[in-house]
Amino acid sequence: MNEIRVTCKTADSLPYGDITPFQGKLKKRTDEMLGKLCRSIIKHGWSFPEFIWKSENMNYCLDGHGRLAAVPMLEKMGYSIPPLPVVFVEAKDESEAKELLLKLNSQFGIIDVEGFREFINGLEMEWGDLALPSGELFEFPDILPDEGKHRSLAERFIIPPLSVFRVASGYWQDRKKAWLSLGIKSERGRNDGMLKNMAALEKKIRGSNLPSESIFDPVLCEIMYRWFCPAGGQILDPFAGGSVRGIIAGSLNYDYTGIDLRQEQVLANYEQIEIVKDKKPVWICGDSRNMDTSLPSGFEADFIFSCPPYANLEVYSKQPEDLSNMDYPEFRAAYGDIIKKACARLKEDSFACFVVGEARSKIGTYYGLVPDTVKAFEEAGVHFYNEMILVTQIAAKALTVAEGFVKSRKIGKIHQNILVFVKGDPIKAAAKCKIDRQELIDAISGEEKAEAEEVTA
Ligand SMILES: C[S@@+](CC[C@H](N)C(=O)[O-])C[C@H]1O[C@@H](n2cnc3c(N)ncnc32)[C@H](O)[C@@H]1O
Repeated sequence: MNEIRVTCKTADSLPYGDITPFQGKLKKRTDEMLGKLCRSIIKHGWSFPEFIWKSENMNYCLDGHGRLAAVPMLEKMGYSIPPLPVVFVEAKDESEAKELLLKLNSQFGIIDVEGFREFINGLEMEWGDLALPSGELFEFPDILPDEGKHRSLAERFIIPPLSVFRVASGYWQDRKKAWLSLGIKSERGRNDGMLKNMAALEKKIRGSNLPSESIFDPVLCEIMYRWFCPAGGQILDPFAGGSVRGIIAGSLNYDYTGIDLRQEQVLANYEQIEIVKDKKPVWICGDSRNMDTSLPSGFEADFIFSCPPYANLEVYSKQPEDLSNMDYPEFRAAYGDIIKKACARLKEDSFACFVVGEARSKIGTYYGLVPDTVKAFEEAGVHFYNEMILVTQIAAKALTVAEGFVKSRKIGKIHQNILVFVKGDPIKAAAKCKIDRQELIDAISGEEKAEAEEVTA
């Protein structure tokens, strides 16, 4: 059994069982918060003493309740707890002890952006693990002086617009809960177009009898639509696959047209169309190389959003027109053709986004799908503009990576590449995509969130 290290020096120590909690229900902690606290204790040791008020042979905790609450979880994880470093604090009676406890929890001062910037300069740390004294998880502050209405970048843009997206992070998970709260609104008859709830959607999709495919992340979908598509705009998806991108689009009041080769997939998607109340997505069955004729004449997209086959990583059907069935040179040619035709339908001054990941050939080398996607868009006159890395599946991959790495030095891939392109002028394209902040704030308002959490629990 590993013992938790004590990484501070005090004159006194106490077994944790001898310390009595003193703050009642003052603070609430979720399992997620306790898990983060455990990881922090494992990483840094017990690095601050418990503050103790001794009264009539009882040792009351004035500070360090969170860490005490994390003890059972640490023990479950296989750690033993040494006597804890303590500092005895004087108080004449219970009232003064309570007052001291509250003062320990008060913030005499405000963390402003300048001071914060200077303090964190050069620090490399996982921000998602940091909690403010109020118990809230830390979020990047929004520092635009004229935009003081929202507290954080996440509140303003859903997630901070930085080049790494972490699916496991607090803000991503919070957003999933926010989707649930939109669902609750819809049950009350408000925001009718919104999703019933994400859990139901996922279950429905997983429950379908189609071959098990990777399911597209709904949060990623929402973020890309809100950032890069004008409100109510037309989305074109030339490799539609499952229903998620269509359903999220319709639920957020965008028009969506997806094309997919497989009839069974298109039929399964239409089975789920009732989830969307107003703007029903449209799925067309066909080879996207024929979109010249399959799309209505005059069809123009405000945003292209798709997730193509990653070469032959997942084979979707035996149809010769299925790109996942082709050898790579043939794939590359058909892929370039589809991208060119889709880009021809994209309005001037608009964005496009493909979510892709590398795949390996039989001899283990990468095909180069990521650079080939960039080349195909550039050949179509649509320019490479942003790349974001979506970090996924760390735990599952970590369990299986060793064998391949030892044998052939293959690194476990835990990311996908989100490639964003622009046709025309990026400033004009951005001006068309105004993010409705009030809608975002409403969508994640406290009350709704709390209700959503109750439903998920
Ligand atoms: C990456 S998958 C999409 C599935 C993925 N899990 C998703 O939901 O994003 C790519 C899709 O491209 C479709 N596809 C392959 N060749 C095609 C072609 N020539 N025209 C249209 N769709 C095609 C496949 O049927 C498959 O559903």
